[in-house]
Amino acid sequence: MTAFQRLLRYARPYRLRLAGAVVAMAVYAVGSAGLAYLVKPIFDSVLPQQRDLALIAGAIVGFYFLKGVGSYISSYLMADVGQRVVMDLRTTLYRHILGQSAGFFARRTTGQLMSRVGNDVAQVQQAVSETIGDLARETLALVGYMGLLFYYDARLAIVCGTLAPLIVYPLIRLGRRVRKTTHRSQEALEQLSHVSAEGFTGHRIIKAFGMEGHEADKFGRASYVLYRTNMKVTAALAALPPLMELLGGIGMAAALWYGSQRIAAHHLTTGEFTSFIAALFLMYGPAKKLSRVNANLQQAIAASERIFGMLDTHTEVQEMPGAQPLPRFSTEVEFRDVEFAYDDRRDTGILRGVSFTVRAGQMLAIVGRSGAGKTTLVNLLPRFYDVTGGAILIDGVDIRQVTLASLRGQIGMVTQETVLFDDTVATNIAYGSPGAGRDAVEAAARAANAHEFIVAMAQGYDTPIGERGQRLSGGQRQRLAIARALLKDSPILILDEATSALDAESERLVQEALVNLMRNRTSFVIAHRLSTIRRADAILVLEHGRIVEIGRHDDLVARPGGIYAGLYETQLLEGRRGDGRLVEADSRL
Ligand SMILES: Nc1ncnc2c1ncn2[C@@H]1O[C@H](COP(=O)(O)OP(=O)(O)O)[C@@H](O)[C@H]1O
Ligand SMILES: [Mg+2]
Repeated sequence: MTAFQRLLRYARPYRLRLAGAVVAMAVYAVGSAGLAYLVKPIFDSVLPQQRDLALIAGAIVGFYFLKGVGSYISSYLMADVGQRVVMDLRTTLYRHILGQSAGFFARRTTGQLMSRVGNDVAQVQQAVSETIGDLARETLALVGYMGLLFYYDARLAIVCGTLAPLIVYPLIRLGRRVRKTTHRSQEALEQLSHVSAEGFTGHRIIKAFGMEGHEADKFGRASYVLYRTNMKVTAALAALPPLMELLGGIGMAAALWYGSQRIAAHHLTTGEFTSFIAALFLMYGPAKKLSRVNANLQQAIAASERIFGMLDTHTEVQEMPGAQPLPRFSTEVEFRDVEFAYDDRRDTGILRGVSFTVRAGQMLAIVGRSGAGKTTLVNLLPRFYDVTGGAILIDGVDIRQVTLASLRGQIGMVTQETVLFDDTVATNIAYGSPGAGRDAVEAAARAANAHEFIVAMAQGYDTPIGERGQRLSGGQRQRLAIARALLKDSPILILDEATSALDAESERLVQEALVNLMRNRTSFVIAHRLSTIRRADAILVLEHGRIVEIGRHDDLVARPGGIYAGLYETQLLEGRRGDGRLVEADSRL
């Protein structure tokens, strides 16, 4: 199916409106042709003999009225359908993109994706709203005028009609060119969106390194590319009206030359000939609009090809047909011979032969050097990625056999980078728990050591926190994230370096909050702090994607030459003084 046909499919739900629009267009065409027809009685009877004056005058107003009403209703209905199609397309695209896998997002930038949802859809919208209405309405008007021409003098009409192919050929050529350039200009827009999104989010680092000029130049180059491609389209499009006018002039000259002979031979009255010329004149407007239709259509097709390309990209984690909801977690989580590799690096396994079991209520600490695969391992549990070998089972059920919502609903997550939304404190805490009342939100905030700083803010729980929570400190953001996880109250918890970005004071508050959060839950904790790790029921040591050791702290430290013992010795695990003594202040955790 071509992009154009797919675009049309989006219009199918609005058939009724389209039908209404077509009726209104027919009215418009009747009005248009009627006006051209009136030229004949004006010249043949009204002007020379003063006959039928009132009738013709009334008819003029009547036809203009028909034309106006038809034009208004058809424009309104067509615009409505166009806007609805574009709205549906936009929403479908956004939903589709959100559903894609983590790997999909790792390969594309935010700016690029925003450009698809924004610029590409806008390009379709502009082209569609300018095109579809014109296409049908002006074609009908042209048909009306043509009918009139043939009614007066078929031979004369054919003489004028021979010029039509001369117009059509360059239009088709032009359309191809426009489609290609539109692809290029949309790519340029994507690059602009990418550069600016990166610049705005990274503004602090850009300033700190004095790279404003460099970034602005990057933007300027992308902007120049866009200018060049847009001018190419414009250069092609601007040639249309003069071309049309020239051909119209030639047609008129031919009509005059041949028509005068027809009048001399008494095949035509002067009024009929004038009416003929008038119809020919009036055809210019619709023809001009129609000549743009193809170019506009090609623009819409080019942009929608990019949109459909995105819609055809399927990287989303699939739910099995007939997947059942996962019952509330009760017994154990098992990793069974889990293998994993990222898409773009199929040959290098990130996780290899990972097997272990965590029983309900236990805390598993995962340690290992940076890049060992710790984050990858915990990301498999909520199925951000699917294992490439082996299986993960919750209470004996493979997580690929249950619905995503029921699986993810049982997993709470706090990571190093907190994700907060540009909304109030309360809404951010209740994110994922839409039914939660103010009392529940407050209780969660108290348990997360967040209540005090929240009530100290100007509007308390109703304070907006800015994009990504920029108006809060790192520790405050982290405690809101913990409150959110507390409120969600899921039985399984993943903490990925939840405290590693914090200073000592906020870390203490966050650690306390985490203790509250982990209570009565099964937790997977990636941490560097010895105090955290020591509390674990089991420590899993990961190296190059393999489990190299598993056991409790005391056993692992005592193992001579062990990896964990080595990490401990070289102080890669934090929270130990130089003399090897533990810092006891934090050992509650
Ligand atoms: N989206 C990704 N695509 C490809 N490779 C990745 C991706 N994310 C992480 N990796 C690679 O996988 C390995 C393990 O990463 P990660 O699980 O984040 O390690 P850790 O959390 O232990 O520091 C690293 O070598 C990293 O380069
Ligand atoms: Mg990590």
